[in-house]
Amino acid sequence: MEAQTEATTEVRKPISAAPLLAVENLSKRFGTQPLWQNVSFTLQKGESLSICGVSGSGKSTLLLAIGGLETVQSGTVTFDGRPVVGGQRAHVEGIGYVFQHYHLIEELTVRENLLLPFSIRFGSKQMPDIWDEVLDLLGLREFLDRLPTTLSGGEQQRAALARAILAKPKLLLADEPTGSLDEATGTCVMELLLRVCQRFCMSLILVTHSAMFAARTDRRMLLKDGFLREQTA
Ligand SMILES: Nc1ncnc2c1ncn2[C@@H]1O[C@H](COP(=O)(O)OP(=O)(O)OP(=O)(O)O)[C@@H](O)[C@H]1O
Ligand SMILES: [Mg+2]
Repeated sequence: MEAQTEATTEVRKPISAAPLLAVENLSKRFGTQPLWQNVSFTLQKGESLSICGVSGSGKSTLLLAIGGLETVQSGTVTFDGRPVVGGQRAHVEGIGYVFQHYHLIEELTVRENLLLPFSIRFGSKQMPDIWDEVLDLLGLREFLDRLPTTLSGGEQQRAALARAILAKPKLLLADEPTGSLDEATGTCVMELLLRVCQRFCMSLILVTHSAMFAARTDRRMLLKDGFLREQTA
């Protein structure tokens, strides 16, 4: 008779890893006008989250506060185990930013733009180890020696995305990265952004007005009437 194998019960230990990002009771006002209050959430490594909300609800300000570029009245942001101090001139190491209007430097070639933040951090003699892969993923090789003003919006946004990720940030903050693009180009850039985050295991906070793009992230939040709430449906 065939020997019976005894059923084993696998005991899984609870995952106790600290989140990559912890936002706790963050409140912001301009003057006496509160913008948002008691904003709290955590984000795990590799997790993606979208934030929707009407124009003026404070999404961009929240993203800036998370990246250390905006002060807050109260609350804390902890990134990768370290406190983020608001109102810094440069955003925190390990956090990459992509903006709606690209913000490439017009006088520099695409190559120089791409390498600028990386060389500030690691020196100009070193090349990013993901340079070739990123250029191929985002289809940027043919534009390297051109000035940003000679590129289309979609091409500029691909360059801005490459610039943000070459130093391999653990967290990418993307503020309406397709807001200036037509639907087809925007969809293409968004696909690339999601693919890049997955490929390099980057966490993502995506501010978007598009329910379709928001649906592509692991979690969805809505900033409304000064409060940030998780959407369950
Ligand atoms: N430095 C500032 N001083 C005073 N008010 C500001 C400042 N920055 C932003 N605000 C105000 O805070 C509110 C939120 O701005 P924010 O740019 O964060 O909104 P948003 O949700 O990103 O809007 P949009 O979807 O249009 O980009 C706006 O009413 C804006 O005028
Ligand atoms: Mg905004």
